[in-house]
Amino acid sequence: LKKIRIPHLQQMKERGERWAMLTAYDQLSASVFDAAGIPVLLVGDSAANNVYGHATTLPVTLDELIPLVRAVANASPHALVVADLPFGSYQGSPQQAFGSAVRLMKEGLAHAVKLEGGRTMAPTVKLLTEAGIPVMAHIGFTPQSEHTLGGYRVQGRGESAESLVTDALALQEAGAFSLVMEMVPAPAAAAVTKALDIPTVGIGAGADCDAQVLVWTDMAGFTDGRTPRFVKKYADLRGILTQAAQEYARDVRHGTFPAPEHSFEE
Ligand code: KIV
Ligand code: NA
Repeated sequence: LKKIRIPHLQQMKERGERWAMLTAYDQLSASVFDAAGIPVLLVGDSAANNVYGHATTLPVTLDELIPLVRAVANASPHALVVADLPFGSYQGSPQQAFGSAVRLMKEGLAHAVKLEGGRTMAPTVKLLTEAGIPVMAHIGFTPQSEHTLGGYRVQGRGESAESLVTDALALQEAGAFSLVMEMVPAPAAAAVTKALDIPTVGIGAGADCDAQVLVWTDMAGFTDGRTPRFVKKYADLRGILTQAAQEYARDVRHGTFPAPEHSFEE
């Protein structure tokens, strides 16, 4: 495995090679995904849900995210580590975004940051990029704006498909190295992917994006309850761990654990 850097992602788009991105929030999961050859790991603000137990991504703070970013970066010798700018840490001004992004890179050791928003984020993307901070953009359904958007809904249907292309082009022009599209009709995502030189990363955005991303706990069947339609479950980690915990507890109750081989002689 080689160390992935931003030009490699660009080269993959030019060669038509698709790639996969996963979220990660800790050392163990990150080291597995890095060794499995996942080229890009995202320390998403979905840590709000998956680490801190919140119902939305809104409550997570920079101070809560930074230690997770650092753990993932330390565990990832090959993957490019992208960190989400959490809600409230960048929307105030490009200068605020700069301060927050610097913390994610200096304290969190992130290689790049991701932020949500369309063309209005272009000045912020420009400032960060010119300061040497690679930016991944995120349009379509943007979970930090769920109260404005009126819940989890597909974005870019009908007329607003053109607006997605306008947003995407503005973000590319401002210097974004890649663009996430979340919950966008497949034909609209395909049109954006075709219009852009930089790689697009889809989540619920169809098969024509240059790359795909999933939340790792969804993809591995670790998440409790229902997952969105766009998730494919590749394992039943929740079932496996539940069974392991139950068997361990039963062995302890029955006195069959620890056995002699788990115990020390005098
Ligand atoms: O926070 C997150 O997990 C994300 C991905 C789903 C793109 O932003
Ligand atoms: Na996110």
